[in-house]
Amino acid sequence: MARLLVTGGAGFIGSNFVHHIVAHTDHTVTVLDKLTYAGNRASLAGLPADRVELVVGNIADAPLVDELFARHDAVVHYAAESHNDNSLDDPRPFLDTNVVGTYTLLEAARRHDVRLHHISTDEVYGDLELDDPQRFTETTPYNPSSPYSSTKAASDLLVRAWVRSFGVRATISNCSNNYGPFQHVEKFIPRQITNVIRGIRPKLYGTGENVRDWIHADDHSSAVLAILDRGAIGETYLIGADGEESNKDVVETILDLMGKDPGDYDLVADRPGHDLRYAIDSSRLRAELGWRPQYPGFREGLEATIRWYRDNESWWAGAKDGVEAFYASKGQ
Ligand code: NAD
Ligand code: DAU
Repeated sequence: MARLLVTGGAGFIGSNFVHHIVAHTDHTVTVLDKLTYAGNRASLAGLPADRVELVVGNIADAPLVDELFARHDAVVHYAAESHNDNSLDDPRPFLDTNVVGTYTLLEAARRHDVRLHHISTDEVYGDLELDDPQRFTETTPYNPSSPYSSTKAASDLLVRAWVRSFGVRATISNCSNNYGPFQHVEKFIPRQITNVIRGIRPKLYGTGENVRDWIHADDHSSAVLAILDRGAIGETYLIGADGEESNKDVVETILDLMGKDPGDYDLVADRPGHDLRYAIDSSRLRAELGWRPQYPGFREGLEATIRWYRDNESWWAGAKDGVEAFYASKGQ
């Protein structure tokens, strides 16, 4: 049994990880989360109080972080400003949390010699052409496009430097696009599902040809647990489930699964600097750590996710109007 500190554990992927830990291990979890607009206590509701504690606070608060590192065996670092569109609007919080926040955790890991796993994204590698046979690997050069992805790239490089210069016991994973329960309605899949529920037409940026490589959040969690248990210190692992889909195909599938005409969507203003395609080669994780995604196909996963948003309207309803007003102001 280990005492885990999970930063950002009230957000989308962090809360899925906390549920995964409770279901599949006997570890206890302290969640450190600032509860920004993206954090939600309700995502941790129903978890056993003797195994999961929520501390509301900022990862850039050095004294708080110091106190927490002193009483945990390992830290899994999810906390971030995570949305590209927001980073185009106001990059500052991305620098504060993703860069200075990660630096604060690294300094505490160094002081307390605590094992740290840093959660990152495939976006640090930039994008691929639609017909490029190559996918991202652990050796692909960094080439981030947006304020969000550049701050994530910066945080990865800080982790690598603290491993090499100070011997911090850290690993890094770069994962592709996640979907599943507890994802904020600002993101692509929940936005379109909740649009259909509300009678709004789904909105595709540009021509809808952009490709993302989808993985269920629960498969991301099992991969992170494998790296935490068996990953080699100082190493990076790419996480993906061979789930490439164009945005247009995703919207058409959602409409079809929700009993609507698959052509019933709008093309809207494109995202500036919009990455064309992401694709992950997760061979290393599979070969060295024996990880495999467990979640059934994307269509079945989407079906379950649609059911979750239908059954949990109280979880997302409060955020929906504000998100749509933000997008409408940008012609999206
Ligand atoms: P999210 O926006 O849903 O959640 C982020 C959480 O971090 C929220 O609960 C928020 O309150 C918290 N937070 C933000 N700033 C904080 C601060 N200064 N101190 C403490 N807590 C703070 O994000 P997500 O989609 O769950 O992403 C989690 C992590 O996974 C991020 O590091 C992201 O870069 C990475 N990632 C996301 C995806 C994806 O598809 N969403 C894919 C790969 C990697
Ligand atoms: O690849 C991993 C990344 O995936 C993570 O690092 C990010 O934290 C996460 O937000 C996600 O980034 P994306 O920018 O790919 O996700 P988003 O859900 O914002 O958009 C997915 C795709 O859908 C992208 O091509 C933009 C497009 N899109 C998005 C919205 C919100 C639309 O076409 N319409 C929309 O309404």
